[in-house]
Amino acid sequence: MSAKSKLPLLILILSVAALFAGLAFAKQDPELKQCSHQCRVQQQFDEKQKQECARKCEEYHQDKKSREWEEDKKQTKEYEEEEKHNPYVFEDRHFSTAIKTGKGRVDILTKFTENSDLLRAIENYRLALLVADPRAFIVPNHFDANAVFVVTQGRGRITLIHEDKRQSFNIETGDIIRIRAGTPLYLINRDDNEKLFIVKLLQPVNRPDYYDVFYGAGGAKPKSFFETFSTEILEAVLKTSRDKLESFFEKQGKDAFLEASKEQIEAMSRREEGTGGGGMWPFGAESKNPFNLFRKRRPSKFNKYGQLFEVDADEFKQLKDFDLRVSYANISRGSMTAPFYNSRAIKISIVVQGQGYIEMVAPQASRKSGYEKIRSRLRPDTVFVVPAGHPFVTVASRRTNLEILCFEVNIANNVRYLLAGEGNFVQQFEKEAKELAFKSREEVVNRIFGNQDEEFFFPVPRQQRSRDYE
Ligand SMILES: *[C@@H]1O[C@H](CO)[C@@H](O)[C@H](O)[C@H]1NC(C)=O
Repeated sequence: MSAKSKLPLLILILSVAALFAGLAFAKQDPELKQCSHQCRVQQQFDEKQKQECARKCEEYHQDKKSREWEEDKKQTKEYEEEEKHNPYVFEDRHFSTAIKTGKGRVDILTKFTENSDLLRAIENYRLALLVADPRAFIVPNHFDANAVFVVTQGRGRITLIHEDKRQSFNIETGDIIRIRAGTPLYLINRDDNEKLFIVKLLQPVNRPDYYDVFYGAGGAKPKSFFETFSTEILEAVLKTSRDKLESFFEKQGKDAFLEASKEQIEAMSRREEGTGGGGMWPFGAESKNPFNLFRKRRPSKFNKYGQLFEVDADEFKQLKDFDLRVSYANISRGSMTAPFYNSRAIKISIVVQGQGYIEMVAPQASRKSGYEKIRSRLRPDTVFVVPAGHPFVTVASRRTNLEILCFEVNIANNVRYLLAGEGNFVQQFEKEAKELAFKSREEVVNRIFGNQDEEFFFPVPRQQRSRDYE
């Protein structure tokens, strides 16, 4: 090909490339398609020139891809660097395995104070995740911690043994239930196909930051607490001979998670017992039933950019012991929450589904000079803590909704101060205070803080979406 014919070709390719550069992130790169198409329809090109043209498209595309890839890699590295020193965010590596069996597992998050003492106020809380396979039976156990369980996916059944009666509840996605320390319980996943996921917030009672699980009746590893007693004690208290005891305990299941039959699950699930409130509920005693975040009420905030479901002790008295609000934010893809801070509540959040990131304002570690931006990518099971008074936003990726379960502790008398959008706190300032604080006329301040007229969930402007960890 002559130098003369190369020039228009190059110009053509560059202009086509420029035209479609904005679509770089689209799924089936339309830029390449378009570029190749342009080559094919050039009348003045012969077959060879067309091929050469297509090759250049390919080359340009590869080049651009690798530049993007480099850029991504650089960004990811930056974020990883930021995340390494981020005491507010906990990832996979901060969980340890408490139980792992063929039928399910329990993972426990490290202490919140493991990496720094910035979260000392919640050192009495631990977070654990339970995943049970279809038809798993989790053997009777108790633990030295008060707990709140939230079902984030699946259908199960939980049975609690009280002093004088038994209570069983069928539980499903969105159900919240309080378990008092030491209450014997067993659980089944009553679904044939779907896994059961439960997030547990625990408040240990013996030691502030640690709890133990005791497996008693039936299967456990290495053995149940019954068997830990001396044989002569067991012989005496159960009035049974050593031989019989040995063969009896020999037979019991050897895991904390066992498999139940379909019939066993159906029989248990049908039994209606212990459900219902204490007589006059909601006026009198607290309801004993689980509370469902999604079924019992409308979201407390919602628009097309997201939904926020919340429940506190006013509505669900079981939460009273914990001074806790449980909430669930479902942020639409390409949307974000309003920046806000909690006046005194500390927010412990876990990502249930989707991707995105969080940005939070925190005082400089030195406490001497201003603030620093804490930023972290969010993926399923990422845990992040937002201390009281710390302004923050949560942003969903362009591709998926971001669903986050939150435990807000220290909730009594908490106020959520919105920093932008409908209902933001600046709107309440006096005229003079607005003008003094922002050194602008009141109309200007009003305009700036009045432009965003959505409440709580906002769309993310397009040009700002490039760094959302996709
Ligand atoms: C979150 O919102 C999406 C729609 O945007 C919906 O399909 C999904 O079911 C919602 N999740 C929950 C838990 O409500």
